[in-house]
Amino acid sequence: MRKSESRVVMSEIFNELDLFLTEHFQTEENLFDSLPYSAAAGHKEEHRNFTRKVHRFKAEFEEEKIGLAVDVMNFMCDWVVNHIKNIDREYADIFTGQRPGGYLGGPADTWNH
Ligand SMILES: [Fe+2]
Ligand SMILES: [Fe+2]
Repeated sequence: MRKSESRVVMSEIFNELDLFLTEHFQTEENLFDSLPYSAAAGHKEEHRNFTRKVHRFKAEFEEEKIGLAVDVMNFMCDWVVNHIKNIDREYADIFTGQRPGGYLGGPADTWNH
């Protein structure tokens, strides 16, 4: 694959990731906004911060400030995996009834199954 081709592929990956994140985060936030989830604001902030980072990486890539960005890709993959395993896990457990409130100790008595 020539350099110009690989840049096009990388640009498409950034665009797909951006679309995926926008839809995924919005779906997730709609879901946890319907729950007694005390960490919702912090969780949304994590989503916003990561989205901002992805936009910044994409801009730097397109301005050719960064190259093929394997480190950037690794960072983004690690973020997504850790976020799903840790932060998303919290509200998923509330959703499935395995946890009564947010990890900040939301009031269990407001949670009616
Ligand atoms: Fe998620
Ligand atoms: Fe999330």
